[in-house]
Amino acid sequence: MHRNFLDILADPIDLYPLRLEINERRDDEILEGFLKARNGTGYAVRRGIPRFVLTQDEAQLQTSKAFGFKWGKLDTYDSPAAKANATSWMLDKYGFESLRAWVSHFGSKDCVLDLGCGSGFSSSLWLNCKEWTSNTTWVGVDISSAIDVAQDRLGHIPNTLFIQADALQLPFPDASFDGIFSEGVLHHTPSTRRAILSASRVLKAGGEFDFYVYRRKGPVREFTDDYIRQGISSMSDEDAWETMRSLTSLARELAQLRTRIRLQHDVPLLGIEAGDHDVHRLIYWNLAKLYWNDTLSFEENVHVNFDWYRPKYAHRQTAEQVKEWCNEAQLTISRFHEQNSGFSVRALKPR
Ligand SMILES: C[S@@+](CC[C@H](N)C(=O)[O-])C[C@H]1O[C@@H](n2cnc3c(N)ncnc32)[C@H](O)[C@@H]1O
Repeated sequence: MHRNFLDILADPIDLYPLRLEINERRDDEILEGFLKARNGTGYAVRRGIPRFVLTQDEAQLQTSKAFGFKWGKLDTYDSPAAKANATSWMLDKYGFESLRAWVSHFGSKDCVLDLGCGSGFSSSLWLNCKEWTSNTTWVGVDISSAIDVAQDRLGHIPNTLFIQADALQLPFPDASFDGIFSEGVLHHTPSTRRAILSASRVLKAGGEFDFYVYRRKGPVREFTDDYIRQGISSMSDEDAWETMRSLTSLARELAQLRTRIRLQHDVPLLGIEAGDHDVHRLIYWNLAKLYWNDTLSFEENVHVNFDWYRPKYAHRQTAEQVKEWCNEAQLTISRFHEQNSGFSVRALKPR
């Protein structure tokens, strides 16, 4: 952490400024030390990363551990195919016509927060572009040990800061950022609603908050999601990963059927619509998320299934809920993109 960044940090409890005590430094980079609050609490700086996580919520801690585990498996998510898939998906859902347009969207900001950055995978899609100038400060926050992985992967990019903190107790004063990006994070906290309100607090007037959250599915799919999540909940992360391998094999067999069926009628009770369906996708959306993508390796596919089933907190919400929470957070929605999987929202804080 560069010592200049002290100015953008605050005690997550009372939002007062912090005082730095340095134990180890390299020039102006603080490697080890403490950030001291008014009441004497000391937040550690370890490996150059300020550590602010205070929660004792058991399901949040399990969720955090699961993500620390999966983002530490570097060879299971960072292939050219995985990055290409993610880039085209995000450009489409957030409504950017090209990667360059997405880079310049964030590059036009003074200070961008990636809220729940994990290992920085999604941000890396634009941070690693040659068009990224580093005139913008990029702040990555994650509750889990994935923040260390993010620093290892992206710490060489100038003007980046990595912080281990909870989205519900952010260590920043009000109105600190003119851009916030939160890709697939808010639903992994104890409350998606409170996470939206918390992000809005640190957004400046005129700033933009871009986020993606899960959508509530039909009844059988919701049941299976909870059933599998519950079934692996007492396992270790390693055993849960292994269990996801069998599920992934099933997904691969179904995907490779490449068989379509035509439904003459809607099945409202199950939330299934009439029409032409690929059998695997019909099962995927309505009965059980069994992820398979031919362009990814087997372990990359396991990664996606683990990502879905392993965290205890993975709330699914309706469009109405998400709109209501944005309204409550005094955010004006400028784009609301709906997919089977979830909602991608661009929201503005009025001046
Ligand atoms: C699906 S990952 C997405 C990571 C990143 N946004 C990306 O797209 O590459 C969700 C991330 O949210 C983080 N997370 C979960 N609860 C959080 C919380 N309360 N505060 C901050 N981060 C949280 C997890 O640790 C995990 O890294």
